[in-house]
Amino acid sequence: MKWLYQRILKPILFLLDPELVHNLFVQFGAFCGKTKLGRCFVRSLYGYKGKPINWTVDGISYASPVLLAAGFDYNGKLAGVLDTVSFGGDEIGSVTARPTKGNPKPRLRRMVKSKSLVVYKGLKNDGVEAIIQRLKNTKKPKNFIWGISIAKTNDDQTVTTKAGIQDYCYSFRRLNEENIGDFYTINISCPNVHGGESFTSPELLSPLLKELDKIPCDRPIYLKMPINLDWEEFQALLTIADQHRVHGVVIGNLNKNYDEANYPEEAPENYRGGLSGLLCKKRSTDLIRRTKTTWGNRFTIIGCGGILSVDDAIEKLDAGADLLQLISGMIFEGPHLMKDICKAIEGNVALDKTMKN
Ligand SMILES: Cc1cc2nc3c(=O)[nH]c(=O)nc-3n(C[C@H](O)[C@H](O)[C@H](O)COP(=O)(O)O)c2cc1C
Repeated sequence: MKWLYQRILKPILFLLDPELVHNLFVQFGAFCGKTKLGRCFVRSLYGYKGKPINWTVDGISYASPVLLAAGFDYNGKLAGVLDTVSFGGDEIGSVTARPTKGNPKPRLRRMVKSKSLVVYKGLKNDGVEAIIQRLKNTKKPKNFIWGISIAKTNDDQTVTTKAGIQDYCYSFRRLNEENIGDFYTINISCPNVHGGESFTSPELLSPLLKELDKIPCDRPIYLKMPINLDWEEFQALLTIADQHRVHGVVIGNLNKNYDEANYPEEAPENYRGGLSGLLCKKRSTDLIRRTKTTWGNRFTIIGCGGILSVDDAIEKLDAGADLLQLISGMIFEGPHLMKDICKAIEGNVALDKTMKN
């Protein structure tokens, strides 16, 4: 399967517009997820069939420690099929209180040599109510976890702090009322929105978390962290998170530092948005390591950013991650990556010791 993807499928798909490929992939996946035959077909290609993994984090048992990161399945259309490609869960979204059209196109570009995507989506999604309905009508696969990533609606009505907080709270309340989602991630660090990354300062994060604390919720809550802050600034956000109902952190979001692009010649003329993949890897792993060293087990750590191989996955776990999330690895390396990571975990005695079962 690796050969087929690398040599045949990828060269063809990479000739097409990335957003078009993304849409085709989602349509194909959603179609396969609708029937038993479709699910069996995908599972036969990409399903992990080894010893059960049973990876338990914050009381949730995962069949695989690898989750799809937020932004790929932003409308929850793949929530019934991703278990067949060896994902243990799907972080759906980011969803917003009102539907969001997204930024003007082009909003997705590939930097092939850098193994990175330039992402300028601007939180395009159908809005929380439509996504709740879709998930209610989706058969949830057994032992498969739905996380929901919540962001604020990307328009000029939410640029004030008060309106932004109300927007997050609306989605969070509705998801809890409807009992949709096994965990929630509050995305405070989307680089592509009106008014910028507005909740990545302690002064603004604190009132947001204070309001979210008031909404009844019995599930784990994670924060999606920015990766472009200095350690002192990052640490200040963790200190605020520590004072609230935050179980853990996803480290982290896209890289905004274009100077780190190692092949600038393949970059779009005018960068807009954030960089994924290899260009996130070092920053994310360093922040995971420092968070683990400083905070021990206070925060669950979800390692995300530049997992392009089994070794990258193991490096994130060694640095202190409890779970893994990826998107770019699946695109640049292929959909067999998740299965390979599961196999490596099954066969890795050192990791078995850290398995939380
Ligand atoms: C196309 C695309 C859309 C994304 N949209 C979101 C989003 O809506 N919310 C979010 O928290 N992160 C979003 N991200 C960031 C990813 O969740 C992840 O943090 C980042 O891509 C690093 O992981 P990777 O190197 O495995 O791709 C997006 C990433 C990509 C590639």
